Amino acid sequence: MDVLGATPTRNLALELARVTEAAAMMAGRFMGRGDKEGADQAAVNAMRLILSTIDLNGIIVIGEGEKDQAPMLYNGEIVGNGSAPDVDVAVDPIDGTRPLAFGRSNSLATVALAPRGTMFDPGPFVYMNKIAVGPEAKGKINIEKSITENLQAIAKAKGKAVEDLTTVILDRPRHDGMIAEIRKAGARIRHIPDGDVGAALMTAWHESGVDVLLGVGGTPEGVLAACALRAMGGEIQGKLYARDEDELRRGREQGYDFDKVLTMDDFVSSEDVFFAATGITDGELLKGVRYYGDRITTDTLVVRGLTGTVRQIAATHKVMKLDDLSAIRY
Ligand code: FBP
Repeated sequence: MDVLGATPTRNLALELARVTEAAAMMAGRFMGRGDKEGADQAAVNAMRLILSTIDLNGIIVIGEGEKDQAPMLYNGEIVGNGSAPDVDVAVDPIDGTRPLAFGRSNSLATVALAPRGTMFDPGPFVYMNKIAVGPEAKGKINIEKSITENLQAIAKAKGKAVEDLTTVILDRPRHDGMIAEIRKAGARIRHIPDGDVGAALMTAWHESGVDVLLGVGGTPEGVLAACALRAMGGEIQGKLYARDEDELRRGREQGYDFDKVLTMDDFVSSEDVFFAATGITDGELLKGVRYYGDRITTDTLVVRGLTGTVRQIAATHKVMKLDDLSAIRY
């Protein structure tokens, strides 16, 4: 390799791996215990503590909600140790709180960073309609078009028939109409109970067998997925989704446009994004946390937008050593 040009710059995603690992190790203790709040609090505490050790001046754009409802990692909270760079931060300490609390698969701890002012702030609006694809179908989707037209475009881009496509959609009554259309178009369907960040990632993940994520899910999850897909070369489009006339009216009064198509640039306008996710319970993408008494293992995906590097980190954590060093009791 020739050494030319500037030296490589810092990859903050590698530091984010420690944040999601800590959150996953703490949250994983709650698997199957039916305690969603306890799990969330444990993940948030761990995330917040590790974030405070990292050289960054972050502001939470996508967090656990408004300050009064969320004691920590609330929207607007300042995180990091205050040094440069200035960044926007998106966190979902547990994507899949229900599956974790009830001992099911596919819960993740996730965090993303982007330069200050570049991340979409959805305000109080919790849902958006989404379509997400991997690199082969990037540039071919259009949320304004019908599901059938999108499936045809994705199939063409991937050199296969619509019948060969696997769609993923959250298993919710609000999707009955979409599901009927997907069936009519002939594509296969995977209904997931929860976790559409992981599902969006799968569209860009080699050998996941997933071609497209469709349907209405969380807005925070949409921004996190956009950060990851930006780095992985995929695409997501979204549109804010109002649950009823009242929400629509309130949104419009606050200047939100529910007809606007949110593109990758609207979700995160910089290429310089960092994303990390650690499996909490076992999933198709990442293994869950394993506890062996003296050690804990984690499986983490780490991606960086500028280079497009995707890393998977299998880590073994020595419990006794961590207990001596860290304020967190794993
Ligand atoms: P949380 O675990 O963070 O609450 O989110 C789980 C999730 O399934 C998301 O992945 C998804 O975007 C959202 O909930 C869908 O919302 P709802 O369950 O209200 O349909």
